[in-house]
Amino acid sequence: MAATTVIRNIGSLATGDPQLGPGPLGVLRDAALVIDGERVAWVGPTGLAPAADTALDAEGRAALPGFVDSHSHLVFAGDRTEEFNARMSGRPYSAGGIRTTVAATRAASDAELAATLDRHVREALRQGTTTLETKSGYGLTPEEEARALRIAATRLEEVTYLGAHVAAPEYADDVAGYVDLVTGPMLDACAPHARWVDVFCERGAFDGDQARAVLTAGVARGLLPRVHANQLTYGPGVQLAVELGAASADHCTHLTDADVAALAAGSTVATLLPGCEFSTRADYPDARRLLDAGVTVALSTDCNPGSSFTSSMPFCVAVAVREMGMTPDEAVWSATAGGAAALRREDVGRLRPGARADVVLLDAPSHVHLAYRPGVPLVTDVWRRGERVWHR
Ligand code: NIG
Ligand code: FE
Repeated sequence: MAATTVIRNIGSLATGDPQLGPGPLGVLRDAALVIDGERVAWVGPTGLAPAADTALDAEGRAALPGFVDSHSHLVFAGDRTEEFNARMSGRPYSAGGIRTTVAATRAASDAELAATLDRHVREALRQGTTTLETKSGYGLTPEEEARALRIAATRLEEVTYLGAHVAAPEYADDVAGYVDLVTGPMLDACAPHARWVDVFCERGAFDGDQARAVLTAGVARGLLPRVHANQLTYGPGVQLAVELGAASADHCTHLTDADVAALAAGSTVATLLPGCEFSTRADYPDARRLLDAGVTVALSTDCNPGSSFTSSMPFCVAVAVREMGMTPDEAVWSATAGGAAALRREDVGRLRPGARADVVLLDAPSHVHLAYRPGVPLVTDVWRRGERVWHR
């Protein structure tokens, strides 16, 4: 029999399941949670908690599900501080900056790429992230993209083929030729190592027809679609994502009413990436507009060295509350259960019996403090698959 642990005296437990408590987050007060092996076995009032092999006193601290960060680009080398500095003196962000990271990534060894990825995964974990998606997209040759995916797949459960990040430098004047590569030999090399296929549908990257070709080719090889859509400009990305039944349309910064209506009518999650607008000094997406229309919203870091170099889900929650019209409950839901929906996962993002025991404790009485106390390192403990993997 697997070992059991009971965490008692949780001041506020955000289950993420409205059937377990009030509000969208299903918050229980004076709660306890029992872990049995890798799973949550029980949640309820501390007074009714069953005995377990190990007991832990949360001393009134808040507990919430581990964050599900459904969008990052962590197989990379190099640094783009100069580019960030230039933006902060007024230069706009452009998709072309990706090629700077491509050059550095191609020059790096497997061990260097793996060490950088591991460092950022650990950094995210200490801030409460227990499920993390990451993408290729800084190699842009069949060999380099497959290498990135292999390195990611040995470490992470959610891996995305993003050969269509931007046309490789060798194809700068032949984007159609590059799409043939991405949908042909590169896909052959990459499909075995990924669960998802993604494309940057944007001015300066790939247009609607090219994005459709990339996604449908990926789907034909058994990959599931997700899309970088409507980040820098209005465009066809969001509606294409909905039409193809993509799990998620990511960024969603520039949306027409028709885009919002399409998201509301479809099954595609709108994943908002506030770190990106923060780091590119751009206007934030309007989460309120999406939520009021009935769209499922996820929050994610987009952690990458160009447009959003943060691994912090607490930071994204705080910015989403302050700048994007979300309540703290909505933002925490989007950073946990919303991220799980964007990855079509049922086992993570909520703390209910049967869920994976991915639990975060805060040095605060409630999850609201993630927005109320921005920038403060509140995460004290993280369990992943029932094992305490971080304790401060
Ligand atoms: O999600 N939008 C495209 N890709 C990344 C940026 C990558 C980069 O600038 O290196 C993003 O923001
Ligand atoms: Fe991205």
